[in-house]
Amino acid sequence: MKFPLPEGKAVIAPSVLSADFSDLRSSLAPVNAGSGWIHFDVMDGLFVPNISFGPVLIPAVKKCSPLCVDAHLMIKYPARYIEAFAKAGADLITVHEESENSMEAVDRITATGLPAGISIKPHTPAEKIIPFLDKVSLILVMTVEPGFGGQKFMADMMPKVREIRGLINKTGRKIWLQADGGINENTSEEAVRAGADSLVMGSALFKAGNPADLITNIGLNLKKLQ
Ligand code: DX5
Ligand code: ZN
Repeated sequence: MKFPLPEGKAVIAPSVLSADFSDLRSSLAPVNAGSGWIHFDVMDGLFVPNISFGPVLIPAVKKCSPLCVDAHLMIKYPARYIEAFAKAGADLITVHEESENSMEAVDRITATGLPAGISIKPHTPAEKIIPFLDKVSLILVMTVEPGFGGQKFMADMMPKVREIRGLINKTGRKIWLQADGGINENTSEEAVRAGADSLVMGSALFKAGNPADLITNIGLNLKKLQ
């Protein structure tokens, strides 16, 4: 399955970090139908203070979801692990601009035949992604400090989302603009208004009483915006 390209409609990407690992199949079942793809948060305890999981979990996620997997590598040395994530079944790999040898890591992703993404932390200015614009299919703007699910959305990241939306539009290339962190029914609208078209949702989705309904409601709200 090929990773989808932007079609002018905002999509939700559930973050598996907040799923129920004791029963991944039931946890993902209600979100599979309405989501764009699954977001896979990798943390190494060096680049961010938390440790999550590695490539070994991707096959299990893909057994529980027919959707593509976008691997968000919040790790210090991403270039060393690109082939492992590609081999494990990642469909797109995103590295942080702030990590070691991020440009080399993006080139390695492309060399595997997969689309690449670049991510920036809240305090990293938008212009840092400019050298990557002609190499990536996704730009991830962190709307929380990377490392944990369940944090508060940083509304002051919206000017940066707007700025990057402008940069993407100037390229004429199909590049996803992903907002990641603290996305819920309200902040999803704010992010889409600013120009995001991919919304990572972890805690708000998996803690919801009815995740499938939440995805439908957000989809209906967002339709009005676009
Ligand atoms: C944070 C991760 C996010 C996070 C999203 O470092 O990159 O993807 O899991 O979770 P919520 O939606 O709970 O902020
Ligand atoms: Zn993420």
